[in-house]
Amino acid sequence: MSRRKLIVGNWKMNVMNFDGIALARGIADKLKATGEVPLDLLVCPPYTLISSVVNELSSSPLSVGAQNCHTEEIGPHTGDISASMLKDAGCSHVIVGHSDRRSKHGETDAQILSKAKKANSSGLTTIICIGETESEHSLGNTLKVVKAQIYGSIPDSANEKNTVIAYEPVWAIGTGRTPTSEEVQKVHSFIRSEIASMIGKNTANNIRLLYGGSMNAKNSKELLSLRDVDGGLVGGASLKVHDFWSICESCI
Ligand code: PGA
Repeated sequence: MSRRKLIVGNWKMNVMNFDGIALARGIADKLKATGEVPLDLLVCPPYTLISSVVNELSSSPLSVGAQNCHTEEIGPHTGDISASMLKDAGCSHVIVGHSDRRSKHGETDAQILSKAKKANSSGLTTIICIGETESEHSLGNTLKVVKAQIYGSIPDSANEKNTVIAYEPVWAIGTGRTPTSEEVQKVHSFIRSEIASMIGKNTANNIRLLYGGSMNAKNSKELLSLRDVDGGLVGGASLKVHDFWSICESCI
């Protein structure tokens, strides 16, 4: 079994239109200059940039995703965006359940599950984020928390085509701290074994598991070489072409 690596840039609430287009173009140019690469690349700009980035990347294999979607398809939800609107705008993926959404918007596993189902039925691949907080980590509850999030927020219809799972320890996001490689591998292999029990061995073997949380050019080679790590969800280091491309290069 060989799982193709996937590197995702999560731009969060950063970047204006002009700089976003330049960032997307810069990555696409690196990709073009390198030729065939054994990995998939995705950028997730804020909603306001999606159309222009999709337009800029129309002839590039670099894909575009969104950072969130609503649970409903259509209706009176002022300020929200549905999965089918994202699909219509040219997105192929959407991140759901990022810890920013779980902690700052009080999103529950049940809501994330329902977003993931809606995104899949709209033709999008979801990147479902799970991960423990600092206190859960120090209490030794990582696997317990991750297990509850797997069963609570991943649809049992998930497969390697419609779903990617990102393990992001909350305490590692934007902090410059990461778990040890042993810890990352242990959690990833645990996630894979839980997916095998919940959905089946075949899906577990083929589904991609990303690591996220302070991934950068210095630590990416080691993290991305771990047996059950199939890519990265990159925040801060996705905002500069050089930083992001250095991470990509570590799996070329
Ligand atoms: P970071 O963010 O790489 O800046 O830690 C990762 C994320 O939140 O997805």
